[in-house]
Amino acid sequence: MLRTHRCDELNLAHTGHNVTLCGWVSKIRDKGGLIWVDLRDRYGLTQLVAEEGQTAQDVLETMRSLGREFVVRASGLVVERHNKNPNLRTGEIEIRVNSLEILNASALPPFLIEDETDGGEDLRMQFRYLDIRRNPVRSKLELRHRMAQEVRKYLDSQSFIEVETPVLIKTTPEGARDFVVPSRMHPGQFYALPQSPQTFKQLLMVGGLDRYFQIVKCFRDEDLRADRQPEFTQIDCEMSFVERSDILAMFEGLFRHLFLQVKGLDIGEIPVMTYADAMLLYGNDKPDLRWTAPLLTLKGGQAYGAVPGVGLGVEGVGFGVFEEAEAVIAVPVPGGASWTRKELDALTDWVKRPQMGMKGMVWVRCESADGAYRSSVDKFYGAAYLKDWMTRAGLGSGDLMLVLAGPEALTRKAAAELRLEIGQRLGLRSPDTYKALWVVDFPLLDWDDESGRWVAMHHPFTSPLPEDMGLMQSEPGKVRANAYDMVLNGTEIGGGSIRIHDKNLQARLFELLGFEADDAQAKFGFLLKAFEYGAPPHGGIAFGFDRLCALFGGQESIRDFIAFPKNNAGRDVMIDAPSGIDPVQRKELGLP
Ligand code: AMO
Repeated sequence: MLRTHRCDELNLAHTGHNVTLCGWVSKIRDKGGLIWVDLRDRYGLTQLVAEEGQTAQDVLETMRSLGREFVVRASGLVVERHNKNPNLRTGEIEIRVNSLEILNASALPPFLIEDETDGGEDLRMQFRYLDIRRNPVRSKLELRHRMAQEVRKYLDSQSFIEVETPVLIKTTPEGARDFVVPSRMHPGQFYALPQSPQTFKQLLMVGGLDRYFQIVKCFRDEDLRADRQPEFTQIDCEMSFVERSDILAMFEGLFRHLFLQVKGLDIGEIPVMTYADAMLLYGNDKPDLRWTAPLLTLKGGQAYGAVPGVGLGVEGVGFGVFEEAEAVIAVPVPGGASWTRKELDALTDWVKRPQMGMKGMVWVRCESADGAYRSSVDKFYGAAYLKDWMTRAGLGSGDLMLVLAGPEALTRKAAAELRLEIGQRLGLRSPDTYKALWVVDFPLLDWDDESGRWVAMHHPFTSPLPEDMGLMQSEPGKVRANAYDMVLNGTEIGGGSIRIHDKNLQARLFELLGFEADDAQAKFGFLLKAFEYGAPPHGGIAFGFDRLCALFGGQESIRDFIAFPKNNAGRDVMIDAPSGIDPVQRKELGLP
């Protein structure tokens, strides 16, 4: 070893020892007679010191010639510091250097290698290897490593075996665009990169492996967001001879294990909510339950089980906006009665932005002083109405309610977003609080207006709920899937389903999805064939590993939890990919 210790290890117990450290020069302070250097490695910082009159001249000269990020090897005596630094693990000691070797010089780094850097996103990505030297990035990669180890530990303890599935395959049914790779040996033909190992894990069940998992790269050519990358990692799992409840229990166990081992938290039991309830009560299928106050549907919502005619409603007083609207949905703001007109006007502008598409916003409040109800629609609705709405929303003195009206889907989506915005403003979305939830009973199919046909909401291997099987021909839109999502703090962290293992049912579903028999055969014939040879009942799930790491790290963006991520435009700006290929390679591949 070139070193005797790491840069986080030395303390007063080592005083008087001769040690050798290696690392990067983080900071240099030259006070004339005294020079200090902060030496950094992956583990920490240690202060080196040299002093005119005490340190050999050649060492002093080398010390003076150092620049930021030079790689050095320093030997010397551990001594107690005069000015101790309680914020540093090695802050009680320093090293009186008696030999100093420059292992490598460094060009001036383009940004500060410190916790708070002056480097913008693009620059940091271009010099990602320097960015990784910074604590905030390195610690995220360390967290990812810890998570991966704990996932393996838990799943291994439950008899799952890790199997690698191929990357050069053909189209997978996850609904995004495929990345394709041209074949040299078969000109004009292409491999597709897996959007997930879905079909292979099902084949492993036919192969009798019983419990499979893989921490695996998946590739999807889709628009990027803070929580989406074109290549990302899944914890992909599949089990045989199970029902939905077995899968939920097994992976609730995984979550409990991860939270306990990595964060020291007991997350308690994970509640289960139906898709219809999630839509009705929270306006989307991934509710953030860090605060539970639900939406109140004053009108509409029948598709999600809302019962019309409850309470005083909104009809019959001549308020055209509510009379004409398909849906009227209230968002509760506990403690919001004191919000000013200015704040309410700003929120109204916020819901009127084109991406929300609302025409306006009504407010109702119960003023704390006298319990009186006031609203922006006082002209139409008397106190009896306002009190009825507020009471049904579980609100009272000192509270506020914001009401949106318009077409059902648009208004419900806007109400869900407004709820999140209010949660943010009220400080209810702390990244240190964790609320997980299972959402179940999704619709099996979704009608796609553009193509005029049904599409699978999860993927076409998802089984219908047994009790809805009878509706497959008569009312396909009402069939619920035996599928489930795991939601953590309002983010979809994983999803899966019990699969179809019956060849005929699978063929029927392909037919409903508008696959021509030949097309289904060409794309998934291998799976249909496998189902002729004793496929066990099976089901599984996949978790977004990058998203999970980001949530555990208290961040929204997954980018810093990936060592070498792509930017918003899907580029790796460090290696400059994607890029052109030379004409020879192009010719070999049979490309124009
Ligand atoms: P699904 O498509 O829901 O299911 O994907 C599972 C989880 O993967 C994460 N995820 C992503 N993370 C980062 N970037 C992306 N582009 C991205 N896309 C998805 C999400 C998501 O919940 N084969 C099925 C699973 C199954 O049925 O077993 C599947 O892939 O967190």
